[in-house]
Amino acid sequence: MSHKHRKTPEQLRSARWFAPDDLRSFGHRSRMMQLGYAEEDFRDKPIIGILNTWSELNSCHSHFPERVKDVKRGVLQAGGLPVEMPALSVDESFTKPTSMLYRNMLAMETEEQIRAHPLDGVVLMGGCDKTTPGLVMGAISAGVPFIFLPAGPMLRGNYAGKILGSGSDAWKYWDERRAGNITDEEWLGLQGGIARSAGTCMTMGTASTMTAITDAMGLSLTGASSIPASDSGHQRMGADCGRRVVEMVWEDMTPEQIITPAAVQNAAKVAMATGCSTNAVVHLIAMARRAGVDLTLDHLDALGRITPLIANVRPSGKDYLMEDFYYAGGLRALMKQMDEMLDLSCVTVTGRTLGEEIATAEVYNDDVIRPLSNPVYHEGSLALLRGNLCPDGAVIKPAACDPKYHVHEGPALVFDSYPEMKAAVDDENLEVTPDHVMVLRNAGPLGGPGFPEWGMLPIPKALIKQGHRDMLRISDARMSGTSYGACVLHVAPESFVGGPLALLKTGDIVRLDLPNRSLDMLVDDEEIARRKAAWTPPEPRFERGWGYMFSRHVTQADKGCDFDYLERDFGRAAGEPDI
Ligand code: FES
Ligand code: MG
Repeated sequence: MSHKHRKTPEQLRSARWFAPDDLRSFGHRSRMMQLGYAEEDFRDKPIIGILNTWSELNSCHSHFPERVKDVKRGVLQAGGLPVEMPALSVDESFTKPTSMLYRNMLAMETEEQIRAHPLDGVVLMGGCDKTTPGLVMGAISAGVPFIFLPAGPMLRGNYAGKILGSGSDAWKYWDERRAGNITDEEWLGLQGGIARSAGTCMTMGTASTMTAITDAMGLSLTGASSIPASDSGHQRMGADCGRRVVEMVWEDMTPEQIITPAAVQNAAKVAMATGCSTNAVVHLIAMARRAGVDLTLDHLDALGRITPLIANVRPSGKDYLMEDFYYAGGLRALMKQMDEMLDLSCVTVTGRTLGEEIATAEVYNDDVIRPLSNPVYHEGSLALLRGNLCPDGAVIKPAACDPKYHVHEGPALVFDSYPEMKAAVDDENLEVTPDHVMVLRNAGPLGGPGFPEWGMLPIPKALIKQGHRDMLRISDARMSGTSYGACVLHVAPESFVGGPLALLKTGDIVRLDLPNRSLDMLVDDEEIARRKAAWTPPEPRFERGWGYMFSRHVTQADKGCDFDYLERDFGRAAGEPDI
């Protein structure tokens, strides 16, 4: 990296708080001294904010209080001053009604925390699903140099000699439990074994998908996303982030230099090659749009068609988990394996190009990270559908569904709410066949509310008893990145705002044609128009507070569910605070 444009200490952003010989700056400096710092600690030095999404209710980030020490060590070594600051934790497991309701809150908090404070650079500590896009979206808009420090996956789950994968195995064993095949003691054992160390879900769920995407986009130290949370290499990576971000400040390496259209395409291809979570679509679009890159569902579908799925990691892959992926070479090796498809000239936070970063990467197990010539699945992990049921798009994960549903026609079985659907699926006498298409609506960004992960609708007990484990399901919900099955998701516009899904009736024939990327109800246009005229909007979900604000400003799934007023070209840039 050329050093000719290095910043001088007077050009540091924090110097605006600390350098002038006036009363305000006197106040800022005296408060730094109140914190115990001498002038040597903070004058003329990059102040590095460490935005830490730790909380005692975020099981995936339980190692962050330790890890932040590693980051600080690195910042201090490189001549910066680290300051740890809290950011909303948005844990996936406990946040209700949905964590997605709060992604944008974290994005806003991140942006405003950075803008409002004397920070020259930032390390973002996140990883549990929504924390990654939330932090990154906000930091992009704030515009200061940053590195994303991924929490890292947890170790493989283990119980009674069996390896357990986050999410996927919970669903699988729950079906067995419902079928009466699992004792209380075994169930408790599974409960204790499926998440047994710090770190994020260790399947290629939303967390691992989003950290891989962020890594591939150049926003983490290359390959950092694959290091297990409890590996000592993760500690060293933390210190490396601290050292490097100080240099990024002197180099003035802002996010827009990194997040180019080519970098976004790299990230999208890597997402497809990893067998990514369907949630990647929403978050990647939202992150790209914050950087002024208009990524659409059509771009993603086109990239999906040319990118084979080569990470043999559950749930799209059969056999392995994130720990195995790391031992097989991790994300650097995966990118090396597909380097002919990537733009290797993209610069990463390291100051080097992606090509330089992966030049020495090797695949140590080519069953885990497959060559392009022997993929897990010949296309990427996601496909985007359109049709009279989803004029603005819908998402499906072809590799995760039984191929017999790739082209399918069947009668709809429609539910307006989750409780209504749940009662039906638990009814052993429900009249349903494997050809039925189960539909849940009012489960989108506004209807859910907050776009819940309900999309892997449970298979009716009546079908499970007959040995069926998959059926075609459609909703305007998302689904967990660790879910699987023939599930069409993110139907847009959602039913709650009058999208065509709201007009579907039980018994209508629905047709999915995956090779042609279409999803339609075989109902004639006049009938659809009649139903549309008779449709009345449901009552709003919120009358006050955050939910009210969310409802008024959230965009639909195909636009990334950002708030309309946070998108890049909305109004005037907030600029720097007047200090
Ligand atoms: Fe945190 Fe899955 S619950 S990553
Ligand atoms: Mg998840």
